[in-house]
This record gives sequence, structure tokens and C-alpha cells, in this order.
Amino acid sequence: MDSLALLEKLCNAHGISGYEDEVRDLIISEVEETADSVKVDRMGNVIAVRKGDEKKVMLAAHMDEIGFMVKHVEEKGFLRVTPIGGWFSQTVLNQRCFVHTRDGKITGVFGCKPPHIMKEDERKKVIKIEDMFIDVGAESREEVEEMGIEIGCPVTLDRELAKLGKNRVTGKAIDDRAGVAAVIEAFRSAECEATLYAVFTVQEEVGLKGARTSAFSINPDMAIAVDVCVATDFPGVNVNQEINLGKGPALTVVDASGRGLIAHRSVLRLLRETAEKNEIPYQLEVGEGGTTDATAIHLTREGIPSGVVSIPARYIHTPVEVIDMKDYENTVKLLSKSLERCEKYMKF
Ligand code: CO
Ligand code: ZN
Repeated sequence: MDSLALLEKLCNAHGISGYEDEVRDLIISEVEETADSVKVDRMGNVIAVRKGDEKKVMLAAHMDEIGFMVKHVEEKGFLRVTPIGGWFSQTVLNQRCFVHTRDGKITGVFGCKPPHIMKEDERKKVIKIEDMFIDVGAESREEVEEMGIEIGCPVTLDRELAKLGKNRVTGKAIDDRAGVAAVIEAFRSAECEATLYAVFTVQEEVGLKGARTSAFSINPDMAIAVDVCVATDFPGVNVNQEINLGKGPALTVVDASGRGLIAHRSVLRLLRETAEKNEIPYQLEVGEGGTTDATAIHLTREGIPSGVVSIPARYIHTPVEVIDMKDYENTVKLLSKSLERCEKYMKF
């Protein structure tokens, strides 16, 4: 299967934080053949291992996507939800969604007043998620219950991956299924002397939780998180920083102004020197907002040298995230080549 088909399958799967089941099953079926072992730990992380020598290297990509959870069903059958993960509320208005029940998924829509009956000041106001509601086509609370919907049902947006122009794709959950796909491909192809742990983490979007527990149990000598990062190459962005689509994976130098991760200098050196050796384009990122699994991993036990490789993405945390497949392919290549040389950079 080619990269695009793999990415499509992963992005079109649904799984908010803590409810990653569908994505987990897909991943297991994709790594089973190459792995010496695959296990699901107590938190739900998938840990695939390819045995090598006594040194341990960990790749991490998160399985969860941002979404919502049903918190209340109104008498007339409308659902109220709480956000799981960081949404900009205006993104959510009038989206089609799925409410996931024990018996399958139910289509719903985030409704709102049409412009015809909005007052002048209402048009200017940002509508909060707590004031929004989901219409699942039911006429009453009883009908909603008959559909199998109850408090606690996860909700995800309904959006399938599509090609955009020559090399780009758009869809939901590219954060971080693009990272998941890249880790799967690197796991399959890398000729790594160290023992390789590919970890597909749970609950990143709500506090880097799966990364924390899996890094503790694996206790790797080095870790690389693979995620998406904020591209700044579109109209209306006023930051003194340039991350472009199509110019290669971004290597984090620091994120969250150093409050998240200050990439370990050896890991950063490994990534840069490998890119240069193999003529893989890359960009350096000094980020001020947002962070990744590496933030939790590097503070595990007595400290784990960690870095981040990111695929630049536009419109992150919307259902129309965009990446360039050239960046994706270069990310896979960079990971795979770095794994082959990583032991040289493990002398701390
Ligand atoms: Co995210
Ligand atoms: Zn992410």
C-alpha cells in the first residue's frame, strides 16, 4: 500500500483521546508483520518492537484526535457537548459530525441560527462551544436514547481526506495520523542496530499522557516524537518565523519558548547531520505555542534525550488541515536514515 492510502485510512478513522480503539486496531494490523512483538499497554498505547542490541530508541506519534463528548441531552433531543482538546469554537459551527455509540456511529450536525434571524450584534459575536448544540434528527430525549446515544459518547467531525493540488492533502486528524503513518513506515523500513520501539500514544491532546507512561516503562536511550507543526505560510499570519509547506520536515530546536521542550543537542545533531548527509531538506523551528509528546518523554526518570520531527501543517485543529506529501515522504526518509545512525549519538 502506498503512503497516501495509508494516511487516508488513518485520517478517516475516528478516535478522540481515550477512545482510540479504531485507530489502534488499524495500527496493529499495519505493524504486526514487521514487528518482533506488538503490545497494548494498560493506558492503551500500542508498543511495537523490532529487536536489536541493548540500546533502545523510541519513536512516538499520537493516535488521538481532538473532538467532543456528549454531556447533556435536552428534552427536545438536542445534544450539548464539552470539547476534548483545543478547538477554536468558530471552526466547529455547522460541521457535520459523528456521535459514537456502542452500536456504531450516528450522523449529527452542529446547528445554529441562520443569518436571516440574527440580530446585528449576534453576527459579530463569537459563539462558544458551550452554547452550541448537535442535532441528530431526533424529536425527543427518548428518541436520542433509542439511538443508543448517552452521556459520555465521543463525537468527532465527519470529514474524509482529499487531495489538494498536485502534492497536498486536506482532512481531519492529520494531527497526528500523519505522524502515525510516518512512524509506521519508518518502523518497517529502518535498518536500525538499536532496539526500536514504535509507540503510538494515547491522550496526547489532553496532556501528553500516553507518552509519559510508555516512556517510563521503556526507558529508552533516545526518543523522537513525530507530529505536525504550525506552518506560517498563508495570509494573515504575523509571526517572525517561517515554516513553509514543501520545504521539508521541521526539526524542533525549542517549543513553547523553552517551557515545553528544549531539544537535546545530540538528538538535534543526529537529525540535522542525517538530513545533510542524505540531502533531505529540513527547517528549524523555534516555537512559542504548542508542544508534543517529547515534552513528557524527556522528563521521564532521570531524563531521556529527546527531539521532535514535525510535518508542517496548515490550519491545525480544524477539519481542513493541509500537508504536503513531499514533506511527509522526507519525514519518513529522515526518520529511517536517522535510526540507522542513532547509536553514534547516544554517548552522553
Ligand atoms: Co494537536
Ligand atoms: Zn499532534
